[in-house]
Amino acid sequence: MQVIIFGASGLVGKEFTRHFSNKHEVLVLTHDDLDITDRQAVKRTIHNERPALIINCAVLGVDACELEPSRAWDVNVCGAENLAQAASDIDAELLHLSTNYVFDGKREADSFYTIEDFPAPINIYGRTKLAGERAVMSVCKRSFIVRTSWVFGVGKKTFLSTVHRSLNAERRIRAITDLWASSTYVRDLAERVDEILLYQHYSTYHVVNSGICSYYDFAVEAAKVLRISDTRITHLIEPVKVSDIQPVAQRPRYTPMRCTVSEEIGLAPMRDWRTAIVDYIRADYRSS
Ligand SMILES: NC(=O)c1ccc[n+]([C@@H]2O[C@H](COP(=O)([O-])OP(=O)(O)OC[C@H]3O[C@@H](n4cnc5c(N)ncnc54)[C@H](OP(=O)(O)O)[C@@H]3O)[C@@H](O)[C@H]2O)c1
Repeated sequence: MQVIIFGASGLVGKEFTRHFSNKHEVLVLTHDDLDITDRQAVKRTIHNERPALIINCAVLGVDACELEPSRAWDVNVCGAENLAQAASDIDAELLHLSTNYVFDGKREADSFYTIEDFPAPINIYGRTKLAGERAVMSVCKRSFIVRTSWVFGVGKKTFLSTVHRSLNAERRIRAITDLWASSTYVRDLAERVDEILLYQHYSTYHVVNSGICSYYDFAVEAAKVLRISDTRITHLIEPVKVSDIQPVAQRPRYTPMRCTVSEEIGLAPMRDWRTAIVDYIRADYRSS
């Protein structure tokens, strides 16, 4: 099968490239290679290459969207729509990534958002990602929307992806205790997406590791994997509230997700985030 991956140099794009290149003919396009907001270039490339599957990993990130709302709309909505239109022209499938931040995070503890829940984003990233999902679904009949959440893996310097290295180097860190979500090992995301594609069941999926964590829980778990003692954990990880950090964009407070569509088509539950961290930390040290 021929596949094109757009936004291929990001965290998810790199892993999807690695994963899908093992079994398919993959054309890998980074932002430098092709800007998805360039409608004509998108159309030309997709019409010329005629892939069976298009994967959209391109995105403008959470805080950047708040700082550049008009660019956020261009990339996250118009760019996604450009890909959907070109996919539809040649009857290709489109796999479009989206986010837990389409939800407002106001649910009660120990519950999970499903696709039956009404999206109500609270920041520009969430609003543009939701509008992007809707544009994709209205233009391309053969589209999969894959919402994921708090992704970690090799290739991006985010809190979740680097916290184990900070702790291992005895660097003190601050970790937020009052934001909760599902977290997702990028390798598990790629593997589950691969399984979903087999069913050709065009729908919205929530692809995340099982369980719920805060950033603080995640950091403590990483420390435990590294066999750091409880006393050292208390010394190294400072619990803070999100109001102490004041990120540029407001974050929804509580957005764990569950995938009812995967359950309906008979896919096994994804493994727990704690098990995934163990594999990730091993893989990260092996890769360096
Ligand atoms: N990472 C997470 O925790 C997370 C959570 C939930 C959902 N997701 C979703 O997963 C998907 C991938 O996210 P990610 O974490 O891999 O993001 P990322 O690491 O920020 O990568 C995004 C990539 O998109 C590229 N890009 C930006 N604007 C573009 C444009 N106009 N045309 C082509 N490429 C463009 C960026 O290139 P430049 O950097 O060169 O601009 C970058 O390589 C997104 O749909 C995101 O919403 C991610």
